[in-house]
Amino acid sequence: MSTATPAAAAAPDTVLVVDFGAQYAQLIARRVREARVYSEIVPSSMPVQEMLAKNPAAIILSGGPSSVYEEGAPTVDRSLFEAGVPVFGMCYGFQLMAQALGGTVDNSGAREYGRTTMTVSRPSSTLFEGTPDEQAVWMSHGDACSAAPEGFTVTASTDVVPVAAFENDEKRLYGVQHHPEVMHSTHGQQVLEHFLYRGAGLSPTWTTGNVIEEQVEAIREQVGTKRAICALSGGVDSAVAAALVQKAIGSQLTCVYVDHGLMRKGETAQVEKDFVAATGVQLRVVDAEKRFLTALEGVSDPEEKRKIIGREFIRVFEQAQAEIIAEAGASGEPVEFLVQGTLYPDVVESGGGTGTANIKSHHNVGGLPEDLEFQLIEPLRKLFKDEVRMVGQELGLPEEIVQRQPFPGPGLGIRIVGEVTKERLDLLREADAIAREELTAAGLDREIWQCPVVLLADVRSVGVQGDGRTYGHPIVLRPVSSEDAMTADWSRLPYDVLSKISTRITNEVRDVNRVVLDVTSKPPGTIEWE
Ligand code: XMP
Repeated sequence: MSTATPAAAAAPDTVLVVDFGAQYAQLIARRVREARVYSEIVPSSMPVQEMLAKNPAAIILSGGPSSVYEEGAPTVDRSLFEAGVPVFGMCYGFQLMAQALGGTVDNSGAREYGRTTMTVSRPSSTLFEGTPDEQAVWMSHGDACSAAPEGFTVTASTDVVPVAAFENDEKRLYGVQHHPEVMHSTHGQQVLEHFLYRGAGLSPTWTTGNVIEEQVEAIREQVGTKRAICALSGGVDSAVAAALVQKAIGSQLTCVYVDHGLMRKGETAQVEKDFVAATGVQLRVVDAEKRFLTALEGVSDPEEKRKIIGREFIRVFEQAQAEIIAEAGASGEPVEFLVQGTLYPDVVESGGGTGTANIKSHHNVGGLPEDLEFQLIEPLRKLFKDEVRMVGQELGLPEEIVQRQPFPGPGLGIRIVGEVTKERLDLLREADAIAREELTAAGLDREIWQCPVVLLADVRSVGVQGDGRTYGHPIVLRPVSSEDAMTADWSRLPYDVLSKISTRITNEVRDVNRVVLDVTSKPPGTIEWE
């Protein structure tokens, strides 16, 4: 598959976040954007020259798991601090800055992990003005800075580290030992904004509105008079990507929605009606329920199910695509572009924004064929999920689509433990709809990350309902809280909400006589049951 870099749009003031490992850099980049300044992540292995060639408005050095004393630990060349670009070092980045500029970093056992009280000794400093003298900060370090480099003013300390923050206003270099990007640092966002606005002199002007304008222009230029297709999955990313491309090229785009019969209640209708009404997109719906159910007959193994669903999806999509290409070809308009809802975290995790598309099969509807001769249009590849939702909102997409919680490509097929049948799917759809309805009514949608509802089709238990004994199936509720789905905790939902869901499901859903709650974090359990 070939890729195309979208036509260059005027670059906004960009803050580069240098990634020293762990997951801090993505969070920092998100926080910078929350401050309405555009940010991009670059790996710490990138030579300083290359970073400076990007003409950054400022640079942030992230934290990381290494010790500056470790053999082979990532470093940064001193020239980065001498280029006149404002720099903010956080945690490991702070220690690197201290060390590179002649300060002292000791490996003396002055460790701090977790919530710590930091005392600000210079309340009028650039970073701390207007913040309390004592503030809660999140620490995670084994080494500590005991002397700031020459020319720097120490602005904060803790009981354990004498130099918890420093700054050199003249050179526009700043550093803090803590992690301002995490929510446990109570004034972290303010400190970050002080760096951006006061230290680096940036203005809060970046918005997702700018992204729409930029992308529309870039897509028009890229596509010209040719045609594009897009597979809609019912999820947020493909919906927003399609809406954006539709805004740019209108009827030159055709969307394909493969209805595999594994969607939740009402979701197919939302795509067919509400999404089309909101965008005016040309949509081809392929009703492939029978085909998927036939292929899944007699299969209980989760991996086998995933493979079958992925394979069938590709076949159905390819067939629809061939038809669209044939029709377009007859009118002399070649279909040369494929729209994908790739997001920034996928780009960063697959090697970092260099223009190569790396499609993670796990996060796509079954994965797309390798040999497609398409150029990719990926209008969301610089955005985080919450920004994608904002773009969707601005494009006027229905709330139910924009705020949709993550839902796996293989759909309810991997939420039935046991063989997938139409009857079981209908039953699970009812139970899932009740759980969703009650969570929404209780105002809990934004608090939980997602709540898979699982049917244990291979398990039966005895119950008593109405006048008699029943021998039905359990439904599992799996509400989780998470920031990125890599780790998760089970959500502590109010008992009355759980009780209402349980009562309604056992009363209203045939063959279900028990509702159980999954109280396992991830790890060790995954979010989905299969
Ligand atoms: P797990 O179960 O691995 O899920 O903890 C992590 C996140 O990924 C979603 N998920 C999938 N998404 N195709 C997808 O598009 C899949 O095959 C798939 N499996 C899991 C899951 O819902 C959760 O958000």
